[in-house]
Amino acid sequence: MKALYLGHAAVLLQTGERNILIDPFINENPSCPIKVQDLPKIHYILVTHGHGDHLGDTVEIAKRDSSTVITNFELSSLISRHGISTHPMHIGGRYTFEFGSVKLTPALHGSSISEGDTPVYAGNPCGFLIEIHDKKIYHAGDTGLTKDMELLRRENIDLAFLPIGGNFVMDLWDAVEAVKMIYPEIVVPIHYNTWEVIKSDPTIFQKEVEKLGLKCRALKPGESIEL
Ligand code: NI
Ligand code: MN
Repeated sequence: MKALYLGHAAVLLQTGERNILIDPFINENPSCPIKVQDLPKIHYILVTHGHGDHLGDTVEIAKRDSSTVITNFELSSLISRHGISTHPMHIGGRYTFEFGSVKLTPALHGSSISEGDTPVYAGNPCGFLIEIHDKKIYHAGDTGLTKDMELLRRENIDLAFLPIGGNFVMDLWDAVEAVKMIYPEIVVPIHYNTWEVIKSDPTIFQKEVEKLGLKCRALKPGESIEL
């Protein structure tokens, strides 16, 4: 399996049979090296919450590829108005799909979609614990540091995508604390340097993670990890 980082919080998992896209902020994402038209056929889209830098191009891609969108119940209801197929879930729930299983994990954040100037409630934000071919991947979504992350250690996570940009999410120092609780095999920092307000230095994060005896890969957008 291959995990391709597309900048900000966007990650494409390619199992060989299925393409699973997490938080597809593509066309308007200043750090994404490709456009929606360059994406392969997407079978499933996982959306952590309703904010534009995560929901992104979900509707367009789902319409194009007849993808199934996996997200929380409220956001599922909101986006299914566009005639796309959704699979609603909620925090703590796990479900086995044809590519593997997905469990929704808690995230300390907000979730809304904007209709004009008004934010519309879009359920609880979440992270995803994804198991494919005996490999476990954790995508934290947008979150602050929470002690709930301790519960993830027993999952034996192979690859963890953690936000480090601060302001809306954990900064790199809080993300290091998260790593101490989760203890993943490999950590990839996300949600930083897309804009000035979430500026962070992944080399400092990498050094701190390596001090713990763990691996950190600060993937550039367009780079991938083979699992
Ligand atoms: Ni957000
Ligand atoms: Mn965000």
